[in-house]
Amino acid sequence: MRPPSWRFTALLVVTIVVAAAVVGGQDAGLSATPAASPAELEALDASQVVLGRQVYLQNCASCHGARAQGAPNWQRPDIRSDLPPPPHDDTGHTWRHGDAELASIIRNGLRDVFNKTPELTMPPFKDRLSDEEITAVIAYVKSLWSPAHRRYQEEQNRRPPMPMATPGRNQ
Ligand code: HEC
Repeated sequence: MRPPSWRFTALLVVTIVVAAAVVGGQDAGLSATPAASPAELEALDASQVVLGRQVYLQNCASCHGARAQGAPNWQRPDIRSDLPPPPHDDTGHTWRHGDAELASIIRNGLRDVFNKTPELTMPPFKDRLSDEEITAVIAYVKSLWSPAHRRYQEEQNRRPPMPMATPGRNQ
């Protein structure tokens, strides 16, 4: 018997990653602290974090919470069967995305593929925030994570982006 082709293996890997991403959206169990890795963490730029906090409070806190705690019952679809805004601290899953994916979500908005309404429940900010402000808000969100979550997210920066329901990629 021939060994499975690399295409099959690649498909399998993508399937597992997508399944994990989907389950991650529904299940808090996967938000448990990731295993620490020995990689060194770069210190965050303090002025970026300060600017990012302002950007966050003005643009994001109304949905994601003043302390980035997310909407109440954020893991369950709301009355319209859409996923509510998740937290951005360790209890959410923002730290599972690399920097480029986070910037793309903030620029272009997002809707979960299983949402019943067609609109972007996470609004696009590309006309409201500069690249500098988007980088800063990501730095602020990073400042909320434990070192283990930060290391995990740093590792995502070295991987190819996950397929996601952002405009331009699936529309
Ligand atoms: C009008 C409400 C609203 C505002 C304002 C908002 N978001 Fe969101 N955001 C959402 C919703 C709802 C989701 C979940 C979308 C989904 O998965 O269906 C989301 C998801 C996200 C995600 C993806 C998290 C993950 O792990 O999948 C990121 C990152 C994010 N928001 C960042 C931000 C930032 C940064 C701001 C401010 C610049 C912001 N959001 C403002 C509603 C909002």
